[in-house]
Amino acid sequence: MDPSERLRQADLAMGLRTAPRWRDARAAQSGTPPAVAASRPPTEAPARISAPVAVVAVAAPIVARPVHSSERGAALAELRKRHDAECPHCTTAKGHTQTVFGEGSPTARLMFIGEAPGEQEDRTGRPFVGRAGEKLDEMISAMGLSREQVYIANVLKSRPPDNRTPLQHEIDGCGPFLMEQIRIIRPEVIVTLGGPATKLLLATEEGITRLRGVWAAWSVPGSGTDPIPVMPTYHPAYLLRNYTPKTRGEVWADLKAVMGRLGLPGGT
Ligand code: URA
Repeated sequence: MDPSERLRQADLAMGLRTAPRWRDARAAQSGTPPAVAASRPPTEAPARISAPVAVVAVAAPIVARPVHSSERGAALAELRKRHDAECPHCTTAKGHTQTVFGEGSPTARLMFIGEAPGEQEDRTGRPFVGRAGEKLDEMISAMGLSREQVYIANVLKSRPPDNRTPLQHEIDGCGPFLMEQIRIIRPEVIVTLGGPATKLLLATEEGITRLRGVWAAWSVPGSGTDPIPVMPTYHPAYLLRNYTPKTRGEVWADLKAVMGRLGLPGGT
């Protein structure tokens, strides 16, 4: 399909008749013109990492060295076993039926991180398969990608009772396994979906409304790898609850910035 037609259809899929005027919107938000990143090649450094690199403490890295792309699938399978046997949160949590480790390509260039499994995810063992998952699927395909090309994980790998927001001690227990997942996959870009994932990765208490749309970065001390650019955006469930042109336009602008960072057609 012609790229401009694909983008037009993506705009429609995101509920937007026309592409949002991203540059203007961002300039209005920040008071300064945003960085131009239209034709940035994927290997170039991010044009703007406006938050300091978040240094997330992982006490004892389970995998100490970068994992070769051919070994990432096996490393994730091994991590999954360790998680299910050792996670201080998931091995003691009550009320869930199974853990939801994450799924997608072990060599994904793009990783999405959500909050925790919900009812459907708990039933199927797969992340983002309920209503929020359908919206995430739409977002991924609007970017010209498929679910199989990306990797999807959550901060918590077991469903909290009544889908409540994860508690700090739960995140402290389960979070290090997410960090290891990221370190194994080593995506080129991470999109954090909503407050809990953004707060964990960026080690901040700032709200998602202030953080979304602004490039940040994530890194593990001693990992020997470059910081990974992070784009925080709204959680698809929030988008569904607040389905306005403004929130849809903001999420689409965030995704377009990610597409630009990855060198995908239609990115900004
Ligand atoms: N919400 C999340 O954050 N993760 C899921 O897997 C499903 C819904």
